[in-house]
Amino acid sequence: MASGLAEFVVIANRLPVDRITGPDGETTWRKSPGGLVTALEPVIRRKGGAWIGWHGAAGEKLRPFEHEGMNLVPVPLSEEEVEEYYEGFSNATLWPLYHDVVAPPEFHREWWDAYVRVNQRFAQKAAKIAKKNAVVWVQDYQLQLVPTMLRELRPDLRIGFFLHIPFPPTELFQQLPWRRQILEGLLGADLVGFQMPGAAQNFIRLVRQRVGHKTHRDTVYLPDGRTVLAQAYPISIDAAGFEELARTPEVIARAAEIRESLGNPKVVLLGIDRLDYTKGLRQRLRAFGELITEGALDVDDAVFIQVATPSRERVGQYILLRDDINRLVGRINGDVGRIGQQPVTYLHASYPREEMAALYRAADVMVVTPLRDGMNLVAKEYVACRYDEKGALVLSEFAGAASELKSAYQVNPHDINGMKQMLLAAINADPRENARRMKAMRRQVMENDIDLWAANFLRELNAVRDPHAKNPRP
Ligand code: F6P
Repeated sequence: MASGLAEFVVIANRLPVDRITGPDGETTWRKSPGGLVTALEPVIRRKGGAWIGWHGAAGEKLRPFEHEGMNLVPVPLSEEEVEEYYEGFSNATLWPLYHDVVAPPEFHREWWDAYVRVNQRFAQKAAKIAKKNAVVWVQDYQLQLVPTMLRELRPDLRIGFFLHIPFPPTELFQQLPWRRQILEGLLGADLVGFQMPGAAQNFIRLVRQRVGHKTHRDTVYLPDGRTVLAQAYPISIDAAGFEELARTPEVIARAAEIRESLGNPKVVLLGIDRLDYTKGLRQRLRAFGELITEGALDVDDAVFIQVATPSRERVGQYILLRDDINRLVGRINGDVGRIGQQPVTYLHASYPREEMAALYRAADVMVVTPLRDGMNLVAKEYVACRYDEKGALVLSEFAGAASELKSAYQVNPHDINGMKQMLLAAINADPRENARRMKAMRRQVMENDIDLWAANFLRELNAVRDPHAKNPRP
């Protein structure tokens, strides 16, 4: 990508492509399945924009390249930076801290130094390729220092930031030794987006208390006359894309095949998550195991499929979790299983969208029970796939999605007895009751898709006053 040419720049920790190695060892790139790329790709194409991100391999420098009309600008990370910036500060400090400290965050000064260094590298790349007055959209917790670093290099740019994960309550955020630097890093943006209104309020309160800036409602007033807006933009999915996929004959046939291979049980329960300690896998499996042990569910009638996608596999807490879940699944199946009848089908693997859609269609009850989650897109994907208005969603009240999907069977995942009752309620409900709930949830998901989310954010970002203009935002 030539310098100073991009009118719209996305900066994210990862590029929106995965590298595929063919049978002869030749490598190609394939677009990642996420909703974010689906929403931003057309904007990038239309504006001749670019996406800056890490390509996923340590110690390798790649030149910018084009993929399906998108300019991709790889940022190199050394082996040590992967350990300290990505696995360390991003995923063993910020990740647990921002998720209610459900695992203890680790604070290491070398990790922080690497985080600063890598954020600076991302900011420099953007400063180089962005056209004058371009719009730059920075994504997520790995890059919270980029807005201010970039503004220092390029004050002409319009800068947005979106946090995909929760922003913690002030009492927890204060634990961070570098709390002021993070807040100041984010304040380089014109618009800071969060999943939930409460997160935006936490941020505004912290800025007032810790940085000492004047705030009013959702606006921060900086001493240089600039304002920063902090608002909620609940993210969504490519809802129509999922529904379309779920309607294909291949997916319908595959869903039937999945049920068949489980012995056509009366009830199929499903969990699909990254293998992460925030997702509440342990609590949900225990609840299900107890229902079988106590005889509330029969091992001949009910099967729980748990897909756990491998994630951050070298980070200590993830290694512990993997062993823990392996043991728990083994214990449940060992205690209550019979020959040919395993109550839990546990799959430690990642699957393409088609297989996910088939699983969603095959599941009578989708169980989404995170202890804390910014949004949870799996819950929305399930709803998008159930155009037949069948199926039930059991959803943690601690997922951002709970404030939109009010007709789900909502649970507190720490309350195992409460969760057992709610699982039974979802399983035994009159199909008309489940159809009523699904209809209400579908209205929400189908009308508020990822395109609308991106359009709303970018419209607000474009409406932010010119950083050099004298008059405040109207
Ligand atoms: O939504 C949180 C997030 O960390 C994203 O930033 C990221 O794309 C996704 O989860 C997967 O995590 P990772 O990039 O660490 O594999």
